[in-house]
Amino acid sequence: MKTRIIIALDGFAACGKSTLAKALAKKLNYVYIDSGAMYRAVTLYCLENQVDWNNPVAIQEALEHIDISFRVENGMNQTLLNGQNVEATIRTMRVSEAVSPVSTISAVRRKLVELQQELGKEKGIVMDGRDIGTVVFPNAELKLFVTASIAVRTQRRLLELRAKGDHITAAETIQQNLLDRDKIDSSREDSPLRQADDAIVIDNSQLTQEQQLDLALDLAQICINQQDPILAK
Ligand code: DC
Repeated sequence: MKTRIIIALDGFAACGKSTLAKALAKKLNYVYIDSGAMYRAVTLYCLENQVDWNNPVAIQEALEHIDISFRVENGMNQTLLNGQNVEATIRTMRVSEAVSPVSTISAVRRKLVELQQELGKEKGIVMDGRDIGTVVFPNAELKLFVTASIAVRTQRRLLELRAKGDHITAAETIQQNLLDRDKIDSSREDSPLRQADDAIVIDNSQLTQEQQLDLALDLAQICINQQDPILAK
């Protein structure tokens, strides 16, 4: 059987991680997991059930009632919260504005990291997030740290929201949300966003999606060959 590796992709909000991770997984025939979708699903549950996430008892109780899974529909990943498809709702600004504070809670992180590690047990997985190369899979064979300028990231997220029918949220609101999230995600005590020492940086501000994918695929192929008992000799 062909050698399968774990590819960890981390980086700031809206820097194109998921676009790259999805494309890489498709090319390699790997599973793609969006770990941010899990934090978004927990946030949605808290918002809809008026859970005070700063109350340890309340959040623990809520976590016991949360089941997150994924399903592929027409080639697209769908996030399920307690069996219900929440893929569209978790991408709204309401969730984006609360997700970083929820992600600072250690009980939330413990539950989701366990689930993420379980999903990666068989390897052959591309996972994107903030702490994938540092905490979830510190031994991942390939770690990429993706960045892009704030102007490029804002523009991309704006186009995404417009395509989904949100014609109201202004570019300034989006930019502020990205900056706020980056700040909370990078400065939290538990598993902050940071580049793993052995991660390779890809700044895609000036790259097309194809160029970025080609670059990542070349790196993945090198790592796969290194793991192959025959090719690595
Ligand atoms: O990837 P995203 O922008 O959809 O992630 C939403 C939020 O979830 C992000 O601002 C911080 C949190 N997150 C995290 O703390 N750890 C991860 N591995 C993935 C996401």
